[in-house]
Amino acid sequence: MNGPLHTALCDRLGIEYPVVAFTHCKDVAVAVINSGGFAVLGEAMHAPDRIAADIRWIRERVGGKPFGIDLVLPSSVPDDRTVEQLLAGIPQGHWDFERMIRNKYDVPAPKEAPNLHIWGGLDQKRALAQVEVVFDERVPVFASGLGSPAFLLERAHQLGIQVWGLVGRPRQAKKQIAAGTDAIIAQGYDAAGHTGNIGTFSIVPQVVDIARGTGVPVIAAGGVTTGRHLAAALALGADGVWTGSLWLASRESDLNLPLKERLLEAETEDTVYSDCISGYTMRTTRCPWHDEWLGPEAPEVLKPPLQMLLSANYIQGSLDYQRKDLMTEAAGQGIHYVTEMKPARQILSDLVDEALDVCERFATA
Ligand SMILES: Cc1cc2nc3c(=O)[nH]c(=O)nc-3n(C[C@H](O)[C@H](O)[C@H](O)COP(=O)(O)O)c2cc1C
Repeated sequence: MNGPLHTALCDRLGIEYPVVAFTHCKDVAVAVINSGGFAVLGEAMHAPDRIAADIRWIRERVGGKPFGIDLVLPSSVPDDRTVEQLLAGIPQGHWDFERMIRNKYDVPAPKEAPNLHIWGGLDQKRALAQVEVVFDERVPVFASGLGSPAFLLERAHQLGIQVWGLVGRPRQAKKQIAAGTDAIIAQGYDAAGHTGNIGTFSIVPQVVDIARGTGVPVIAAGGVTTGRHLAAALALGADGVWTGSLWLASRESDLNLPLKERLLEAETEDTVYSDCISGYTMRTTRCPWHDEWLGPEAPEVLKPPLQMLLSANYIQGSLDYQRKDLMTEAAGQGIHYVTEMKPARQILSDLVDEALDVCERFATA
C-alpha cells in the first residue's frame, strides 16, 4: 500500500502501517501484527524459558511476519546478585516505611513471590540471560527500553537481528546512531513507563535531525493514542509511532478487569512522573504508594534496583487481590483518549483512519 502513512519503516519491516505496539501481552502482539502493524513484546519480567516459549507461541500465529522482543539493559545495577542479597541491601528504615504504607492502606500480602523478583533489571546476569534467548531464537527485532544496546550490536547483526534503542535525550540518540543501532525510538515525557523529562514534541524532531542522512528510522513515542498523534508524529519527521498505553485496555489485553476499568477512567492528571516505583523516573497511574512517597515523612528513594524490590509487595498484593483503590500501572498522558475496551484490530484501524483523515484535510485545504 502506498499513501501518506507509508514510510521507510513500513518497507523495512514489510508492514502496512507505521504503528508499533509495545505490549506485555502476546495476544495483543499477535492481533496487531496480523492487522498490519508491528509489535514488540515486553519480556523483561520473564525468565528465559518463558521468553523462549512466548517467542514460539507468537511465531506459530503470525505466519512468518516479523516482530520484536524488548528487554532492559541497565548498566548501573550490580553484575550478579541473588534476590536475597539485594533485599538485604535495603535499609531497615525503608522497610519500616513500606510496612507503614501496607498497614495504613490494608494492602494484602502477595499470593506468591512478586513478579518483580525476576525483573531483568535487577542485575546484569539476569538481563544477559534474557538476551541470549532473543539471540538463540533469532527474533527479527531486539529493543532495549533501558540502557544502551550498543555492546551487543555486532553479535545481533551477525545473526540478522535488528537492534532498536529507546532514548529520551538527543545525546543518547547521537551515541546510539554512531554505534550502529538500526532504529531509534524517541520517547518523550508524556510516555508511560521509564522516561526522561523532555516532551515528545521536543525530543522527536531533535532526534529526526540527528538521524537525518543516516538512514536510521526514528519512531516517535510518548502520548500517541489517536490518529491525530500519528499524523503529527509523521509531520515531525518520524517514520512511525511506538505506542504502549493505547493497548492496555484492549479486549485482548490480559490485565485484570479492575485495572482495565481504572485505566479507562484515568485522565491525564491521574498519571504521575516519579522514581518511587523503581528508582528510575517513571510515569504510572497515581496510587497511595505515590502519595506516601511524596509526603514529608518519606525516606530518600533508593537507587535501582532496590526501590523496585521495595515496592514489589505493595504492587503485587494490589494486583493479586484486584484492589482498584491501590493499583498502579505504567500509563502515559495520552490515557485520556483510551476510553473503550476495543479489539486491538479496531484500535489500529481507528488510529489509521483518523490519521488518514488528517492527511486528507491537509491535502485538500
Ligand atoms: C504497562 C507498560 C509497561 C511498560 N514497560 C516497558 C518495558 O518493560 N520496557 C520498555 O522498553 N518500555 C516499557 N514501557 C514503555 C513503552 O515501551 C512505551 O515507550 C510507552 O508506553 C510509550 O508511551 P505511551 O504509553 O504514551 O504510548 C511500558 C509501557 C506500559 C504502558
